[in-house]
Amino acid sequence: MARKPIVGGNWKCNPATASSLDELVSNFDGCAQYLDKCDVYVCPSNLHVALVKDSFKPGIKVAPQNCNFTGCGAYTGEMSVDQIKDMGMSTVLIGHSERRGEFGLPTPKESNELMATKLQYILDQGLSCVFCIGEPLPIREKGVDAVLAECANQLEDIVPILKSLEDKSRVVIAYEPVWAIGTGVAATPEQAQETHKGIRDWIAKNVDQTTADEIRIQYGGSANAKNAPELSAFPDIDGFLVGGASLKPEIADIVAAIS
Ligand code: G3H
Repeated sequence: MARKPIVGGNWKCNPATASSLDELVSNFDGCAQYLDKCDVYVCPSNLHVALVKDSFKPGIKVAPQNCNFTGCGAYTGEMSVDQIKDMGMSTVLIGHSERRGEFGLPTPKESNELMATKLQYILDQGLSCVFCIGEPLPIREKGVDAVLAECANQLEDIVPILKSLEDKSRVVIAYEPVWAIGTGVAATPEQAQETHKGIRDWIAKNVDQTTADEIRIQYGGSANAKNAPELSAFPDIDGFLVGGASLKPEIADIVAAIS
């Protein structure tokens, strides 16, 4: 079964003013024409989700940047999948390296085990999930085997969940090398392809061949309109998770490149 490409825009903690939201939303208008060929989602900041969730062209999904792991209750500062679902959204992004503890996040690191708990909770509630993984620079410097071992480490706890998942399109893996995020230094297309293929081969071995064939693996890390055509030409790169460039009109060119 052919995998449908998927591009996400992660606005992170942007924009600074709610009055800038309309402009950011309109940057995605040009993506709508490609929706039959490419899925598109946007991750606004938690504070802005409710303001923009109905503002995009039909078919462009809004996916919060995080959720808690257990539901509603006494969890200050968190938001539950139940709330996300109630507001009409069907996808959540979890495990971004900026939450896993990279970049000196002062809150406790989010562990692989916690990611698995969140993923199970999200799927049990009927939603889809973008599941981020990726290695920091010291690991990349050791070579591709070390990179793939780190990716395997971050995926290991979700193997049983992927095994029992019927519709493999409900989980998207976003491979984001931490050293490429926001640096302007993207992985080379060959590097990205080699890692995506390695992840897919690992899934074939540790989950099953169907999951490996059907699960989508996005690339994230300084993806932009210039490098998207070359990256997306490789067979195991099923789209992009875009940070900085998703705040600009070029997001439509990135979607066009893979459509
Ligand atoms: O979630 C998005 C990624 O962290 C990539 O961010 O495109 O600004 O490097 P970037």
